[in-house]
Amino acid sequence: MCIAQKTVSDFIYNISPGKPGNYTALQYNNNYNMTIFQESKPIFYNYWDRVVHIRSNVSNKSCDVSDENFLDDIRNFFAAVQNTITEVTSFTMLILAIHTDVQEKLRQEILDTFSNDKVDAQRLLNMRYFHTVFQETLRLFPVTPLISRQLTGDIKLESCILPEGCYVMIPIFTIHRNPAYWYKPLEFIPERFSSTRHRYTYIPFGTGLRDCLGQRYAFFSVATIIVNLLRRFRFETVGSLSDIKITTDIVLRPREVKISMSRI
Ligand code: HEM
Repeated sequence: MCIAQKTVSDFIYNISPGKPGNYTALQYNNNYNMTIFQESKPIFYNYWDRVVHIRSNVSNKSCDVSDENFLDDIRNFFAAVQNTITEVTSFTMLILAIHTDVQEKLRQEILDTFSNDKVDAQRLLNMRYFHTVFQETLRLFPVTPLISRQLTGDIKLESCILPEGCYVMIPIFTIHRNPAYWYKPLEFIPERFSSTRHRYTYIPFGTGLRDCLGQRYAFFSVATIIVNLLRRFRFETVGSLSDIKITTDIVLRPREVKISMSRI
């Protein structure tokens, strides 16, 4: 079992009431197959109500309604929420510490928008400059740098045919830095998002039927954290954009740049 799976399984198990005799955790045997304890599923009552509802309305043929599939979804959700929001927030803070002019401009927008009020969704949506900073951060550092698809039919390109069934990797990271689409691609220029572009040159949340389900939630989470931090603290660093080294397992992570915080 990989560390991510074990962490999520342990997490679900640990927050389950009534453990160890009466719990809902996913368990994997050594062969990596999942055994599901179904006696009771206390923390996912709502979820399981939905599962029962879906099962009674779809056939096994039209949709995979197995326990494995539903539990895989739960695991995906934990992984998708936890890692992405943390890393985007880290990248945003790093970039703001490097570009203190952007940080000041954003702080001004935050103060004009909220003053000392509590953060609310409507006003977060009105923060135009923050939107461009968020977008530009995800252009340079798309936390999901690569996605893939299995082709359900042949695709004819200019020089070849990609056959049905093969896997296609879509390199979001390199698309976002391609000089054919982006002016000064390695520079942080939030203003570039004030104008329009080809829709498939910018896909931090993927695209199509399987695009990210959590993109609005991600935006609101990161925005709430950044607004509350910038109202209280200044960020600085001696590093520059090119000093940000990145590493990736499933998601992109920054390393080797330290920032300092001082209270305003
Ligand atoms: C800035 C943060 C995030 C980024 C950049 C991101 C990016 C992505 C990408 C690129 C995909 C794959 C889309 C595709 O294959 O076309 C994806 C899928 C998904 N994301 Fe996110 N994600 C983020 C945050 C979240 C959050 C917070 C949640 C949950 C609340 C979430 C839930 C999901 C789910 C469930 C899928 C699978 C959708 C499906 O297969 O139909 N993501 N995400």
